Amino acid sequence: MSLTILATASILGVSYLFLQKQDLTPFEKELLALPDSKYILEHTRMVNVRGHRLRIIDIPGKKLDKPILLLIHGLGGQASQWEDQLEFLRNQASRVVALDLLGCGSSQGESKWKSYDTDELVSDVTAVVNTLDINKGIIAIGHSYGCIISTILATRITLQGLILICCPKLHLTKREKRGQKLLPFIPDWVINRARRADRKGGLNSTSVIRILGTTDANEEIKRRQLRWNLMSRTPVYKRFMSRATMPSTDIFKKISTNRVLLIGATEDKLAPSSNMDQIEKYLQEPPTRLLIQGAGHMPMVTHTQQVNSAIQDFLAQQ
Ligand SMILES: *[C@@H]1O[C@H](CO)[C@@H](O)[C@H](O)[C@H]1NC(C)=O
Repeated sequence: MSLTILATASILGVSYLFLQKQDLTPFEKELLALPDSKYILEHTRMVNVRGHRLRIIDIPGKKLDKPILLLIHGLGGQASQWEDQLEFLRNQASRVVALDLLGCGSSQGESKWKSYDTDELVSDVTAVVNTLDINKGIIAIGHSYGCIISTILATRITLQGLILICCPKLHLTKREKRGQKLLPFIPDWVINRARRADRKGGLNSTSVIRILGTTDANEEIKRRQLRWNLMSRTPVYKRFMSRATMPSTDIFKKISTNRVLLIGATEDKLAPSSNMDQIEKYLQEPPTRLLIQGAGHMPMVTHTQQVNSAIQDFLAQQ
């Protein structure tokens, strides 16, 4: 059973990300108690949209004639995963906004399963966008499952560009779909037990290395990744996974921009870089592409400079 969960999880470009505060090691408790950085906290505010109280990190940019950049994290992730982009990108944009999706990071969750449907999450994001000054134009940057949300967003509002980092595959197998249906019936404690086993070994545990793609990452990065894994809540994770619907491939024909940047990584086991070839086939115009050597599923954290320069170049071509 946990294999089915894992299989489904890896499709969506995630790892195992459930958890309650019980049965944590002292080290895990310590990590979980760490606050976000001062920079993030200073730029954090809450927005109320569609009955949801969501956290956004909202940073004024330095180029007022440029679009707003909107950063959307993946399953089990949160806005703080973009920390290494925020300060850099504010020099290239009129505003940089990263949000925590429903129940993620510092956003409130809710128990209703339907609220976690892919389309509902996109509606949340659309509502957040509508609180911004959209006359500036918007460029969406998604990571993992956030790529799916950004792509659907691109069919609902006009974007000036779309950047997809580690995009998951669009087709779920029958087995994965069965796993999705089964998930609501699996008690949280069962999942928590599997997660605990997955975190055995702490900074070098499977839960961390699966995502980073390599044991070589420095200790600070491993620490951050383990903290994000710990912060991902089991009930939220179950709802995200179980209610995720992948759009049909013709979605790429309906997006509001021809400017697309795809970023993949050679050691990404959760969203293999070959996914970029698939997406390229569905696009109307050839995208800009970057394949990062040696990176796993979190290139914006482990290979910051390459990701940032690729985004910078893409924005400069505007
Ligand atoms: C993790 O692995 C690295 C490299 O293999 C090693 O240097 C380090 O001591 C390990 N850390 C822990 C906490 O086990």
